[in-house]
Amino acid sequence: EVQEICQSLMLGEELMREVCDRMEEEINKGLGKDTNPEATVKCFPTYVRDLPNGKENGRFLALDLGGTNFRVLLIELGDKCSMDSRIYAVPQPIMIGPGDGLFDHIAECLASFIKERELGDEILPLGFTFSFPCKQEGLTKARLACWTKGFRCPGVEGNDVVELLKQAISRRGDVKIKICAVLNDTTGTLMSCAWKNHNCRIGLIVGTGTNACYMEKLEKVELWDEDRDNPPQVIINTEWGAFGDAGCLDFIRTEYDNNIDRESINPGRQLYEKMISGMYMGEIARQVLVHLVSQGLLFGGYTSDILLEKGSFFTKYISEIESDKVGDYNNCRNILEELGFNDATDADCANVRHVCTSVSRRAAYLAAAGVAVLLNRINEESVTVAVDGSVYRFHPHFHNLMVEQISHLIKPGIKFDLMLSEDGSGRGAALVAAVATRIAAKR
Ligand code: BG6
Ligand code: GLC
Repeated sequence: EVQEICQSLMLGEELMREVCDRMEEEINKGLGKDTNPEATVKCFPTYVRDLPNGKENGRFLALDLGGTNFRVLLIELGDKCSMDSRIYAVPQPIMIGPGDGLFDHIAECLASFIKERELGDEILPLGFTFSFPCKQEGLTKARLACWTKGFRCPGVEGNDVVELLKQAISRRGDVKIKICAVLNDTTGTLMSCAWKNHNCRIGLIVGTGTNACYMEKLEKVELWDEDRDNPPQVIINTEWGAFGDAGCLDFIRTEYDNNIDRESINPGRQLYEKMISGMYMGEIARQVLVHLVSQGLLFGGYTSDILLEKGSFFTKYISEIESDKVGDYNNCRNILEELGFNDATDADCANVRHVCTSVSRRAAYLAAAGVAVLLNRINEESVTVAVDGSVYRFHPHFHNLMVEQISHLIKPGIKFDLMLSEDGSGRGAALVAAVATRIAAKR
């Protein structure tokens, strides 16, 4: 009976191929000039048109906003890359308070980092990794299309976030920097990996949110209005998290997905992301568990107050429970105790694990569908996919599940590998700034 209930989370081959077809259609719509306005997968050109050659050098500052941690970083690029960084908190009231408050906070953290590291005498170039959907109008101009994940600061959507950051910096008057690039975390991830790996063409995040970018030929980017040569390509930030927002994932969405969406900060938006990423995976599992208890199929039909609280089943629990060895439920029992279940049986544990596996497998398969579509578009013999994000990093089987499923979905003859990319927002941001400088000099 438990398996039957989890069946709605299973995606067989036919459904997977349908997801791929629909994603492909949405990407084509996103890249088309006339079709883009109604596309959900917006396919924003990033203005990053070249990959690093490994010879970039210099000292850079970077800001990283939008993942688990807000960080300020100092990067030194040379033969090797060294990095110094500090994490700063972004309190919840700032995440949903006025935009000026958010940018004042960012500027304050930047100022404190510069002071602490005694960097005040130099005007350092800065790369701003801002991991939200932005319509870019240049390498240093990015208008926020809409907030995603847990942010909702009024006064930012529709505005250029670089300008807002500059204004906050000038309100303080004590920071000297030159903003050289604004980028998405997927772009940073791709660039950071491409620094030494010359087959890298795709950047993927499966963390708090999910998204991917890839290098596209400009002849396929109808909505691009600027010069098409030198080089005839650009990195496209797909913003695929919004896939499904026009209903095209309804054929696989479940009652659990509907509940999560309804209770989220942005109902009706980011529906693909809500089936895949770390901000939601734990909550999907919790919804299924609550349902199983209500049917008398778990814990003898008795729930706990904690399990009934929204958000009480953290996504990291899924990774921990699935890390238990077969037949051993150590992590599972500890977690169930934290949730108020002190005498779970082996059968309860097996069922809880089955729920976790079903949720994470579906997430990995859906992310794999998106990657397969991009690999088929790129259609090169051998492509490396750079990946970052807490779900990919910490889930024990995510990588393997993705590889298995991508292999089923790509055209014969394409080889690929998924590679953990380090420091997308640090090294990646610095590389975007460095490559931009190189291309400008060449022109
Ligand atoms: C980090 C990158 O490693 O991963 C960030 O430096 C990125 O730029 C983040 O946003 C994504 O993962 P998570 O799990 O922190 O959302
Ligand atoms: C969300 C953001 C996107 C980002 C992703 C991963 O989907 O909209 O810009 O890349 O999360 O952090």
